[in-house]
Amino acid sequence: MILSLNTPLDMHLHLREGTMMQNVAPISAACFAGAVIMPNLISPVDTLQKLFNYREDIEKVCKNEIFEPYMTLFFKPYPREFLEEVREHIIGIKLYPAGITTQSESGVTDFNMIEPTLAIMEELQIPLLVHGESDGFVLDREREFLVVYRRIVENFPVLHVIMEHITTADSVSFVDEHDTVSATVTLHHLMITLDDVIGGLMQPHLFCKPIAKKPRDLQALRDAVFMGHPRIMFGSDSAPHPQHKKECVGCAAGVFTAPVAMPLLAQIFEEADRLDCLQGFVSDVACKRYAITPPAKTIELENKPYRVPTLFNNVRPFFAGETLRWSIRSPARI
Ligand code: NCD
Ligand code: ZN
Repeated sequence: MILSLNTPLDMHLHLREGTMMQNVAPISAACFAGAVIMPNLISPVDTLQKLFNYREDIEKVCKNEIFEPYMTLFFKPYPREFLEEVREHIIGIKLYPAGITTQSESGVTDFNMIEPTLAIMEELQIPLLVHGESDGFVLDREREFLVVYRRIVENFPVLHVIMEHITTADSVSFVDEHDTVSATVTLHHLMITLDDVIGGLMQPHLFCKPIAKKPRDLQALRDAVFMGHPRIMFGSDSAPHPQHKKECVGCAAGVFTAPVAMPLLAQIFEEADRLDCLQGFVSDVACKRYAITPPAKTIELENKPYRVPTLFNNVRPFFAGETLRWSIRSPARI
């Protein structure tokens, strides 16, 4: 059986820089028509020059593929002139609470400071992408952050807000209740709970932010995605770290899912008997919500076994060494 997907998009992707980028970017560029590129570099993407340089680097590494990098800017209080200038070069601005995840130290510390920038973004129709976690107890962080989302939605009623990598039933309800709010959901959060991370022997390669939650949260995410939710789209949050930074004291947060994203999505949608919803989840919802037209590109999957390499250079992927039911037929297998 062949499954054809039109312009698949990864609406939340970490490509890093330098040799890591050379290692991981071609993988996503081969199986997606475009991706939303996260700005949390060692020196965050917060000027036009950094944005242009980063985009150019990505294009260079991905030059053999049809692949559109949808660039984001790291949220800071920005003046109007700058936002007017940067607007046509970005898909949105990504807000991180300070220190909440990998390379987010220069994120927001005081949420009272964000409003003037949000007002301009709303007016200029620049979407706001949010890493929505408080600094509370790890399992409560996403729920606690809903008060911030609520305030943003109330104060900026036409701002397009994207709740990135949602992991809880409460977040799904919040999206349900607000028409101006969209959300991304990762592959791994559709497959694992906290039990998979720490319920048996500890699994550093499944450790990520936000941490995987309870079975009822997993079920709520799956229900929303498999019903073809009109505002929930795929964002892998594929976040590669070298093996020595995962298998150590002080394991870095992030799961590297890029190489297995499409085959495993096909597998879980097939298992749920909802293959009919896959095109919407991996492309159509995003195109509509962000009003984008990705470059023409079709990906074909076939139900032939794919053995996942244990390493992509120094990065261990999700499902390393396992055999998946679906493989990428075209473009050529990675
Ligand atoms: C991401 C990373 O490594 O950049 N890590 C993660 O656990 N998801 C950052 C992020 O999206 O939180
Ligand atoms: Zn991320």
